[in-house]
Amino acid sequence: MKRILVIFGTRPEAIKMCPLVLELKSREEFETIVCVSGQHREMLDQVLDVFGIVPDHDLSIMKPRQTLNDLTTNIMTRLKKVLELENPDLVLVHGDTTTTFAASLTCFYENIPVGHVEAGLRTFDIHSPFPEEFNRRAVSLVADLHFAPTATARENLLREGVDPARVFVTGNTAIDALRTTISPDFEHDVLDWVGDSKMILITAHRRENQGEPMDHMFQALAQILQERPELKAVYPIHLNPDIRATADRILGHLDNLLLIPPLDVLEFHNIMARAYVVMTDSGGIQEEAPALGIPVLVMRNTTERPEGIESGTLKLVGTQIEEITTALYQLLDDQAEYDRMSQARNPYGDGTASRQIAQILSETMNR
Ligand code: UD1
Ligand code: UDP
Repeated sequence: MKRILVIFGTRPEAIKMCPLVLELKSREEFETIVCVSGQHREMLDQVLDVFGIVPDHDLSIMKPRQTLNDLTTNIMTRLKKVLELENPDLVLVHGDTTTTFAASLTCFYENIPVGHVEAGLRTFDIHSPFPEEFNRRAVSLVADLHFAPTATARENLLREGVDPARVFVTGNTAIDALRTTISPDFEHDVLDWVGDSKMILITAHRRENQGEPMDHMFQALAQILQERPELKAVYPIHLNPDIRATADRILGHLDNLLLIPPLDVLEFHNIMARAYVVMTDSGGIQEEAPALGIPVLVMRNTTERPEGIESGTLKLVGTQIEEITTALYQLLDDQAEYDRMSQARNPYGDGTASRQIAQILSETMNR
């Protein structure tokens, strides 16, 4: 029986790897071992609880205000011991976090094959997002199997010289997750508070946005919410204490904004499905929103997800106050523009990515 070790550490990796873990565990041909780095704690555990997954190993590395050095060195030291104990035939990593990078490098040093889920995303700017663009490129150098969500991602890999026989277009497992979470009967206190108002859903966390860009993002939101008291905004704040402090300072006084702790993924997906517009610097939300037909203003200067821009659901609005307010007013005041952006189009597959990846693993590993 082939032994596959799946490692992830943050909320978005967990949301997109749990459907694959469940698929692998349903197949008797694999022994599936789950290792979490614990790069996130509460936000990771929320996802594990929703999907009912109990990790076999937990590297428990999270600490307040962790640096990229802390993360990389602690993951590499602790994961090496798990790999020696478990001796997997393949390690599966996801996306572009420091857990992904450190785990891939550890496997490279230990000569263990790596499968990269959500491979081939690129902004072509090594500094943006930071450090994710570096992480994903570095993982592509060491991966043996590349599971690209779209044809565009596959093309990016081929241009870098990756063997075409090692690249598989599967869709994104984010859509698999979304298929299991959305429920038409969903009820929640937050939705009661919103009532019939138009709801703006906000998230923000990117390292390169912390400081002045995030101040500007929040000042833009504060300006709009003051000028339009009939709007309601909901902001589940990332647990990074610096972000909480910035949000409290700039947004804390607004009556039509709800600042709340992170929602679990069931709650977040269903509340997002009822939003009028999402304003975010998140990566994963750029994949989910097109499938739900919710317009997204992406408060970043680059995106590695051009598919949503092309399909019209996403607009890249940067981090300057005026660009953000102009884009939001247009969506609020121009119905034709709103209708154009809010058509559901899903560039990320049909929700079978996990099944396809498991099948490819079955064929390639049992050859
Ligand atoms: C990380 C990833 C980023 C991903 C994001 C998803 C890296 C370098 N960054 O960024 O790619 O988009 O996760 O959210 O891999 N914290 C808690 N509890 C939690 C989670 C975080 O208290 O459950 C606090 C801790 O103080 C921690 C800080 O948040 O030190 C930052 O967490 P970290 O994982 O370093 O960075 P993120 O911004 O979350
Ligand atoms: N999400 C969640 N609860 C929240 C905010 C976001 O479950 O309060 C989910 C969201 O649906 C998406 C993922 O978390 O699947 C995105 O995570 P994040 O923005 O932290 O990271 P990124 O995708 O930018 O790496």
